[in-house]
Amino acid sequence: MTVLREIRPSLLAADFADLAGAIAAAERGGADTLHCDVMDGHFVPNITFGAVVVAAVHARTTLPLDVHLMVDEPERWLEDFHAAGARVITIHAEGTRHPQRALAEIRRLGCRSGLALNPATPPDALDYLWGEFDEVLLMTVNPGFGGQRLLPAVLDKVAAVSAAANTRGFAVPVVVDGGVDAATIQAAAAHGATAFVAGSAVFGTKDPAAAIRQLRAAVSA
Ligand code: DX5
Ligand code: ZN
Repeated sequence: MTVLREIRPSLLAADFADLAGAIAAAERGGADTLHCDVMDGHFVPNITFGAVVVAAVHARTTLPLDVHLMVDEPERWLEDFHAAGARVITIHAEGTRHPQRALAEIRRLGCRSGLALNPATPPDALDYLWGEFDEVLLMTVNPGFGGQRLLPAVLDKVAAVSAAANTRGFAVPVVVDGGVDAATIQAAAAHGATAFVAGSAVFGTKDPAAAIRQLRAAVSA
């Protein structure tokens, strides 16, 4: 069976004064989605951008947008990000008291629902939520900043979540996010990850389109 593997460049590492250039490079490189990291300065110690910028990105591309909400109480913003053109909206289990309700609302709006776990959150945080989300995102760094090193200890959790998805019969993408580069992507794939967010490994290079192709080649071999 061929496993579909997605490369999802994160705009966090792009030049924010030239998002159009970054989008064009991602398209040339054959990116599967564009990953948009929204940070609120509460859930994580950093602030990035909100729905207005996501809408501007959406207006420039036909690539699906995968919006990663690193915010407290994400339910406050779901409609805005849907209206901005998000295809996937991913919330953090640690950011809401009512993940079930928030995930249901994302689907009701017509988006795919994603559930993210921080590195220290155990995989059983998903136990009563299977079937409620369309993908799971495992942070392989502590969220808030690009350019950190992948935490190898999280790879066991990637394997556990991938096995749980198979056992339960939920064919959801298992997304890894943080420190994914040409050196780490194969280990993540070997542990069961099927979608790969990469910021600095794409936009921190001179040729982001080539970097995307290189990441894809590394997991297609
Ligand atoms: C980090 C973000 C990531 C970030 C990854 O908090 O969620 O999506 O862009 O950046 P790199 O690939 O540089 O680790
Ligand atoms: Zn992210």
